[in-house]
Amino acid sequence: MTQQDKVVIFDTTLRDGEQSPGATMTHEEKLEIAGLLDDMGVDIIEAGFPIASEGDFAAVSEISKRAKTSTICGLARANFKDIDRCWEAVRHAKSPRIHTFIGTSPLHRAIPNLDMDQMAERIHETVTHARNLCDNVQWSPMDATRTEHDYLCRVVEIAIKAGATTINIPDTVGYTYPMESAKIIRMLLERVPGADSIIFATHCHNDLGMATANSLAAVEAGARQIECTINGLGERAGNTALEEVVMAMKVRNDILPFRTGIDTTKIMGLSRRVATVSGFAVQFNKAIVGKNAFAHESGIHQDGMLKNRETFEVMRPEDVGLTGTSLPLGKHSGRAALRAKLKELGFDLADNQLNDVFVRFKALADRKKEVYDDDLIALVSDEQTNDAHEFLQLKKLRVICGTEGPQEAEMVLTIDGKDHHIDATGDGPVDAAFMCVKMLFPHKARLQVYQVHAVTEGTDAQATVSVRLEEDGRIVTGSSADTDTIVASTKAYINALNRLIIRRQKTAPGEDVKTVSYHGE
Ligand code: KIV
Ligand code: ZN
Repeated sequence: MTQQDKVVIFDTTLRDGEQSPGATMTHEEKLEIAGLLDDMGVDIIEAGFPIASEGDFAAVSEISKRAKTSTICGLARANFKDIDRCWEAVRHAKSPRIHTFIGTSPLHRAIPNLDMDQMAERIHETVTHARNLCDNVQWSPMDATRTEHDYLCRVVEIAIKAGATTINIPDTVGYTYPMESAKIIRMLLERVPGADSIIFATHCHNDLGMATANSLAAVEAGARQIECTINGLGERAGNTALEEVVMAMKVRNDILPFRTGIDTTKIMGLSRRVATVSGFAVQFNKAIVGKNAFAHESGIHQDGMLKNRETFEVMRPEDVGLTGTSLPLGKHSGRAALRAKLKELGFDLADNQLNDVFVRFKALADRKKEVYDDDLIALVSDEQTNDAHEFLQLKKLRVICGTEGPQEAEMVLTIDGKDHHIDATGDGPVDAAFMCVKMLFPHKARLQVYQVHAVTEGTDAQATVSVRLEEDGRIVTGSSADTDTIVASTKAYINALNRLIIRRQKTAPGEDVKTVSYHGE
């Protein structure tokens, strides 16, 4: 394989993915995800949109300082102020990139009311400005797949001449299909002078479920950078899923003879972590990372699998970091067994973290005969999400529920280190418990999403609960796991409130809602 066969992986989980309503991550979570992406071998991390908020700026700056091998990129609209702010954030990176864009389709040109010539001039000026700051500049004609072909060729040529080193072709609304996606890249390579001196990227949204196919078709036609997110996170139906394109090129290397720098065994760990911190659970039948992606339930399949696993599997679970089904742990399992199992699952915990997890594992094993891999994953994720030093902590909860309402809850909630006691009734046990929290810690946050999932089978299964709250435009998610669904629900609610408290301190009402318009200044 030559350099020509390398497909650059550009991850935009922290920018386009985080734009998904409710997927907002805390500063620390963004740093953690960026570190994991760097370790996995992602070539370029789009860490945020620095002008969009103080939070984005701080995250992009810090990620830039910490990055080991990945290039760190920030997004900027086509104006000097955005580009300067972006450069201020990414310039700390060993390898920085500025990504500037403007909507070039007729629909997008109409909003800033620029005619074709005025827009061409704007592109020339802004790409030149970016290139004067940074020698790695990416330019995107937003909504490229709905832009007139002649105009697309014209503006791409202008951006190349102004110094862009990567030209990204976004399918902003997930409108294209594979043959067309390939045709556009081929056309640009054939018609635009200088096209052979830069890298073409593909950036697909999944509105019609074709993002992966469209990205791979673009690569076949000559694109050498794929923009994607973990779990396909992103606005509306999401972006191209990193795990899908990377595994497709690995599994079908016979017809897609390309290579990436991704350590695919890190995929599962990242997928779980992104699901937890974004509050966007992975659908069970999601390709590669879904809970059922390697599960073979039907008797016919199980029989075939036992004889030869290749009968029903195109890749091995280990290739994406899923360990084979191994024996569950129980209450007699010791610390060493727990450490080994967690390592197998991709969690390399420090000694003090392991001690905390061990205490919780023992408590869980007392309640549950067998502790499965998924139980441990839920437990560790909960430990990482719900810090013991939070402002609000659930100390005690008793609930009376049954066919005769109203249901009652009695709670002790620790607020800033001090215990507070209350009783409340509600329309169901969860409502009663949430009412207690609301009475002890009054707030205006509205519950937007409340989701419960059983981690494993059986009536003693742990439940993982995620909630999403909205207050004055600030959206936060919280999650928790417990064998008691009401406890998990209450802890998830409290977790979201703790995040809201932090968010309130960092932003004025409405400020962290990314209201910056893609067309504004
Ligand atoms: O989908 C899109 O067009 C984008 C651009 C900002 C590159 O995300
Ligand atoms: Zn996008």
